[in-house]
Amino acid sequence: MNTALEHSSAAARLSAEIEAYWDERSEAFSKVRLQELNGPDGRAWWETIAPRLPAGKKLRVLDIGTGAGFFAILLGKAGHEVTAIDQSGSMLRHARENVLACGTHATFRKMDAQKLLFPDNSFDLILSRNLTWTLPDALGAYREWLRVLKKGGLLLNFDSDCGRCSFEDTVDTDHARTQVDKAQVQRCNAIKEQLSISTCRRPYWDLAVMQELGCECSCEEDISGRVHLDPGIAYDNIPLFAICARKK
Ligand SMILES: C[S@@+](CC[C@H](N)C(=O)[O-])C[C@H]1O[C@@H](n2cnc3c(N)ncnc32)[C@H](O)[C@@H]1O
Repeated sequence: MNTALEHSSAAARLSAEIEAYWDERSEAFSKVRLQELNGPDGRAWWETIAPRLPAGKKLRVLDIGTGAGFFAILLGKAGHEVTAIDQSGSMLRHARENVLACGTHATFRKMDAQKLLFPDNSFDLILSRNLTWTLPDALGAYREWLRVLKKGGLLLNFDSDCGRCSFEDTVDTDHARTQVDKAQVQRCNAIKEQLSISTCRRPYWDLAVMQELGCECSCEEDISGRVHLDPGIAYDNIPLFAICARKK
């Protein structure tokens, strides 16, 4: 087999492995996200995001790697026109149910965050949380995100430098609270070890990339104390950074 073919089948295998992992996590993940949405953390997230948005304007929003629909619901409730994508069909099923249960609306599509099927300059606001650490091609993803963002549009990315640590050391082992079992934590670590983004120091890498791609950026290196308030949710203890990038 030639090297290019080997490379592309290894990439397809890794992508399928990542999708299967999130499919399997989706039901328990959705329960925790609903608890987060309906408690103090949901309010704290809205208070973190809302001041950054242009006032009095209905925005075209893209939530990338929506999972169970956390940001889609927050932004939909605020009256914005939300499109949300995810690679996991099971996550999207939960997201659709959650949006209905919360009495709001969003359009969901199964799509790879690294290959967006939207025209250039489509969205006023792109949001993503806890996704970029699990992408095989985060640089390609950022290129795509900025392609579909309108000039002057805003990209808010919340993530952690997960490559620095082993989840076994950072995730609470109480399965009843975390809804993640030991085997899943080990699978997640094994995925993370195959990703080049795990070798990048973040958020510095992300900021350099976004500036290079033509954004004005600001960053808070750890907002976890502001948004992880619910003692009933077992968050990991890795700092959660917030990047706010405007496309020039
Ligand atoms: C940790 S969850 C975060 C979900 C949601 N953003 C939240 O904060 O609740 C990561 C999500 O990214 C999705 N994902 C992983 N790789 C993806 C890809 N290449 N394209 C789209 N979604 C992806 C997973 O299916 C999963 O739903």
